[in-house]
Amino acid sequence: MSLTDQQNQMGVFDTMYNCRAMRRLDTKEVPEALLTELINAANQAPSGSNTQGARWIIVRDTKVKQRLAELNREGVETYLAPLIDNPGSLSHQSGDKRRRMVDAVVWQKEHMHEIPALIIACMEFGAPATNDMIARGNGSIWPGIQNLLLAARALCLGAAPTTLALNDRKAVAEALNLPDSMAAYALIPVGYPLGKFGPVTRKPLDEILRFDTWSD
Ligand SMILES: Cc1cc2nc3c(=O)[nH]c(=O)nc-3n(C[C@H](O)[C@H](O)[C@H](O)COP(=O)(O)O)c2cc1C
Repeated sequence: MSLTDQQNQMGVFDTMYNCRAMRRLDTKEVPEALLTELINAANQAPSGSNTQGARWIIVRDTKVKQRLAELNREGVETYLAPLIDNPGSLSHQSGDKRRRMVDAVVWQKEHMHEIPALIIACMEFGAPATNDMIARGNGSIWPGIQNLLLAARALCLGAAPTTLALNDRKAVAEALNLPDSMAAYALIPVGYPLGKFGPVTRKPLDEILRFDTWSD
């Protein structure tokens, strides 16, 4: 029996509706077999023209994690600077919820280097990557990232898609030994959650769905 047969007790809809960004993670090691199962799931996703350019790096080495944590700190601090004292609110997210999200992002910034595995979602282009190629690569990497997040949830692992560590492309390439034909798109910290899983909160269908043509 495979790992997923044994452990995946959640149906696909349950998994999607309960797949929150889990940022507070335990330092407890995650078995390698579970981590590779996440990449197996990611690898089942579609890609444009079936090019299958996605590449995945599971970072467990302390020094590499520390470097990525530094890059994340820089990205988060720049992003959060205007929000720390006043996180604001969105029409669909109360000030209280937004404050809690900012607190979790700050927690993750402080603990990134202690998280058991940082998974980096990359694309390989087969030639030096131009800005255009990198922009187009988004459509082929994110289905795999979402598969990975759903697989993590089904296996009761906490995970969150993050990008703020990857702003400085040259520094990221150096940290991960990426050739110029590759680019990194997301850093997904993975571990056992310290908090509880729960449902996601999203806008209602009447706000986001129309039939045939758009109308207000
Ligand atoms: C493209 C993208 C980039 C993101 N970048 C970050 C990030 O750098 N740091 C972070 O903590 N969360 C990041 N997130 C996570 C979002 O903040 C999160 O998915 C959103 O708040 C919804 O959270 P929920 O699923 O728990 O409701 C990112 C998500 C996406 C899709």
